[in-house]
Amino acid sequence: MLGPTVLEPLTVDWAAAQGVEIAVLRLDLIDPLLSGNKWFKLRLHLEGSRQRGCTGLISLGGPHSNHLHALAAAGQRLGLSTVGLLRGHETSTPTIIDLRRFGMHLHWLGYGGYRERHQADFWGAWQARYPRYHCVPEGGGGLEGALGCAMLVEQVEGALPAFGWQAFDAWWLAAGTGTTMAGLVIGERATGRLVYGALAGPGAHRGGDQVAQLLREAGVSTDRYEMLEASGKGFGRFDRRLAQFIFDIEEQTRLPLEPVYTAKALLALRQHVEAGRFEPGARVVFVHTGGLQGRRAAEPLLRQLRRRHC
Ligand SMILES: Cc1ncc(COP(=O)(O)O)c(C=O)c1O
Repeated sequence: MLGPTVLEPLTVDWAAAQGVEIAVLRLDLIDPLLSGNKWFKLRLHLEGSRQRGCTGLISLGGPHSNHLHALAAAGQRLGLSTVGLLRGHETSTPTIIDLRRFGMHLHWLGYGGYRERHQADFWGAWQARYPRYHCVPEGGGGLEGALGCAMLVEQVEGALPAFGWQAFDAWWLAAGTGTTMAGLVIGERATGRLVYGALAGPGAHRGGDQVAQLLREAGVSTDRYEMLEASGKGFGRFDRRLAQFIFDIEEQTRLPLEPVYTAKALLALRQHVEAGRFEPGARVVFVHTGGLQGRRAAEPLLRQLRRRHC
């Protein structure tokens, strides 16, 4: 179902100047729709729903949600009905248009209604309304989501020889709920390589707490991970500097980024490298977690910010 594991060198002057080598794990290339970390976060949820004989999937997210986009596409591909619970009031975005095209049934919860998702009785009413649907936590999270990502470690290990590396020192990736990061930490429990998560939202998004919670649930005890603040102007917001960074990287390396997760994570890596926080000779795997579908809505502002800069 998925394409091969692709590692590509990121040849940029700021890494070369510090003697740091970066390999990009191109998860954005593994599938046209279930790309990035999404397939890994969803795979055990999908398997579980099949084992339980579920007829559909229900989950929640915002109007640009990469997670709902992947869930709707997976449902369509696997013949499962899908329901999306949306933050805010009805609006049209490229993502929403796709969700409808993939056959997802949408409910708009408003902002207050969406905030209720953490309450204990939130899912009960939806389960009563959609019996035999599997409820997937926000962002494809939970232990199933994390365990699905743990296999990335093995996959990258397998791809290293063809890439010409025998070993590497650290992982670097964008973090939202922290599920993907927790998966890597779980997968790394034998080797203990450091996993860095660049938080796309302010600490209030509780990414760090969630990683610790997921590790507890998985029975993994380690401190070989670090979360860094990378939200810049705030979750989903970006400025001229980030816009320019995206276009510069694209021109120099052909690597496509989007402004919510991957560009912020790579910019944070650049700052870390430039601050000399990696030893010369260090090798880092940067995980491209996908999300490029979400860039469509941001494109006009990205271009406008760049024009103003020129
Ligand atoms: C493109 C992209 N990168 C990174 C993340 C963050 O992943 P996680 O929530 O597992 O930390 C997300 C959110 O799911 C995402 O859409």
